[in-house]
Amino acid sequence: MPRRFRLAAGVLAAALIVPAAPFAATAAEAPATAGPTALRAAMPANLALDAVATASSTELDDARFVPAHVNDGDTSTRWSSKYVDASWVQLELAEPAEVATVVLEWPNACARAYRIQTSVDGVEWTTQAERTAQATCPRVDELSLDVDEPVGFVRMQGMTRWSTWGYSISEFRVYDAPLPEPEPQLPLVPAPVSLERADGALVLTDEVEIEASGDAIAAAEYLADVMRPSTGFALPIVAEAEGQAIDISVADGNAPAGHEAEGYTLEVGAGGIELAADTEAGALNGVQTLRQLLPAWIESEQRTDVEWSVPFVSISDYPRFEHRGLMVDTARSFYTVDEVKRLIDSAAPLKLNRLHLHLTDDQGWRIAMDTPAENPSGIDYTDLTGISGATAMTYNRAGQLMGTELGRTGYYTKDDYRAIVAYAGENGMTVIPEIDLPGHTNAALHAIPQLNSAGSSPKPKPGEVTVPHQGTGDVGNSSFDANNEHTYAFIAEVLRQVAELTPGEYLHIGGDEAHTTSHADYVKMVDFASATVADLGKTVVGWNEYASTSLPEDDAVVQLWTGNGAAVRDAVNTRGAKVIMSPANKTYMPQKQDGRQPLGGTWACGGPCTLENAYNWNPATQIAGVPESAILGVEAAFWGEFIRGVDQAQFYTFPRLLATAEAGWTPQSGKVLAEFVERTGQLGTRMTVQGVNFFPTATVDWRIDAAPTVTRTPVTATPAAAGDRPRSSKAEIDWRVIAPSTVPAEVTAELVWSDGTRQPVALASTAASDIVAMTQNSAYTGSTSRNFHASGAHVGQLEVTVGGAEPVVAGTVLVTVPGKR
Ligand code: ACM
Repeated sequence: MPRRFRLAAGVLAAALIVPAAPFAATAAEAPATAGPTALRAAMPANLALDAVATASSTELDDARFVPAHVNDGDTSTRWSSKYVDASWVQLELAEPAEVATVVLEWPNACARAYRIQTSVDGVEWTTQAERTAQATCPRVDELSLDVDEPVGFVRMQGMTRWSTWGYSISEFRVYDAPLPEPEPQLPLVPAPVSLERADGALVLTDEVEIEASGDAIAAAEYLADVMRPSTGFALPIVAEAEGQAIDISVADGNAPAGHEAEGYTLEVGAGGIELAADTEAGALNGVQTLRQLLPAWIESEQRTDVEWSVPFVSISDYPRFEHRGLMVDTARSFYTVDEVKRLIDSAAPLKLNRLHLHLTDDQGWRIAMDTPAENPSGIDYTDLTGISGATAMTYNRAGQLMGTELGRTGYYTKDDYRAIVAYAGENGMTVIPEIDLPGHTNAALHAIPQLNSAGSSPKPKPGEVTVPHQGTGDVGNSSFDANNEHTYAFIAEVLRQVAELTPGEYLHIGGDEAHTTSHADYVKMVDFASATVADLGKTVVGWNEYASTSLPEDDAVVQLWTGNGAAVRDAVNTRGAKVIMSPANKTYMPQKQDGRQPLGGTWACGGPCTLENAYNWNPATQIAGVPESAILGVEAAFWGEFIRGVDQAQFYTFPRLLATAEAGWTPQSGKVLAEFVERTGQLGTRMTVQGVNFFPTATVDWRIDAAPTVTRTPVTATPAAAGDRPRSSKAEIDWRVIAPSTVPAEVTAELVWSDGTRQPVALASTAASDIVAMTQNSAYTGSTSRNFHASGAHVGQLEVTVGGAEPVVAGTVLVTVPGKR
């Protein structure tokens, strides 16, 4: 699809320069809108829906792949051909039409080259368009045709397959008119419940103050911390503002009724910004929205000269679900405290509010435990991290490396853990620690001799008192012994210490994949753990396998990942359990997003788990009989078999985490895939500036953006004499250009001034977008310098060209040179 143009306004206001007047089109860019984020232009009717599809062949002659799936309006079904280059699929329209646009969705086996042909009679065919694709699938091709006579048939005639497979098309759409450009969306993810726009925008000045007191101070400080480095504004936090203000108020009655815990309202008008909530959490949610309404460059650590404007909006907003989580598997591969903080930095702006730390598993134990003074079992709890903090994922059973390197070892001291809890808290996130048991316990069994007994598995080698380290990705072969008293002493002590460290209300006890444990033993150990958590005053959480145990009445949470819906329904209906939805095929992040990713699973979705797939689901219809009221929320999980370090974690998690965030926040009726994808395309700049190493999803039209940082020196006549006035003014401009999914060789830039002067800008990049290397980095820098001899305003537009496409006006600079006296 063509990249869309955007005029990003940038304004210089430096010393000697009058405060810049608002310039360019930010304010007028988008029309006033209704609905969640924008009006959508009316789409022409898809004529394919009433057509009859036939094809040259069907893959494996399997009913799942028949031609009728190509025009059934359902992107989860597809037509696939046999493995022959010349395969075709065609639509016989209900009545002849002037076909203007064809859209083909290729889910997982696409054409390298093909033709779109039309026919009046289905016998003689005319080639209307020929496409040689640059990118493999998943891919959406939109082709404009110039057909002036009505035709009865439209055909995709394959020329060259991508590889050995045939062609797969999930939807073949046909329109008798050009498709409207998507309406501009405000780049808000998750989309708010209610948003109204008015024409115009508030331009913040360097005098702007934040008005806050009492419980609003924390949100005010958070906002100031985000805004100060990039704007260079002082942003004092004051009890009463004197001029332009961002007014944050936390008081009873502020939030939308019924949504006091996390709701907020946000009004942006010519007079200023007003954010109101009942709670600190609500105010922080409003701050995250305001942050996304500001230009993406607000995320920069570096001062940037763009117009800091906020569109006029009136927002009333609150979450659909209380729990919006991200799970991090620290056990298979460790993340340092700083890496966890980076993950929090990338998740919090999406209004995610739970950080689930998977702290223990077969491969490693990551949380330091002390040996208590009273310790009849004689267990040395410091061995947990002393021994199993030094282990991680190794090779799989076939001797293969599953990631780019072995899993990383390490552990959190109690102070490290407290630091994570505190940092998460500042970002509105509650930590949920998970101690996985009675399976996934090889690391504990490897460290603690007392846990190895007749009923535990696996068994120590002859002459040894603990089991060997298990670093493969294999699951289901470790278990505690239900008939060993030390098992219970251990569970009680570990949960006690973890509860003591954790201010949040939840403790997760795992309970998944205990395949070597008998059901009776499983229930005995899990019941003990659940009761212990309840005695500690916390709410127990476990994976869906534990739904069949004696969950504490009205005080247990089941996290669904796969399998037994009936047991989960039963837990909800008979024991008042709540459910966290983490269906693997929607929220498991180590799954490939795209066939081009070299690592990662494909089991959860039977192929890549695409961004669209991560978006297209409804938590309330996952399990019949589990209504919305029983759902605590949603959670994305990234497991550690393949993933090493925070850059890779982000490369697998983003942008799909945006989809999970919206599943947790936005009402189902407010979710529109095309709008979400458009908003995601805008957020690429923000993520890049923030340092989020997101995957450059092929189906997203990633926005190209640029911003200047300008220094200006008056040039004095030489030799300088007393009383000389500046004769000219030199502006040096450092540009940053964000062009996701590009490589340096294809990106060029030129600065075009209002007086017609053109300056080429050499762009440099430290790394190219490289899917195999898992580097998204498509951020470029370049510098220009110009001497201005004329006073007045000089406007420059940075035009960026990618791969020979039309140039995009990606950024604007205004230099105002004072007149000589
Ligand atoms: C899980 O994926 N074993 C919860």
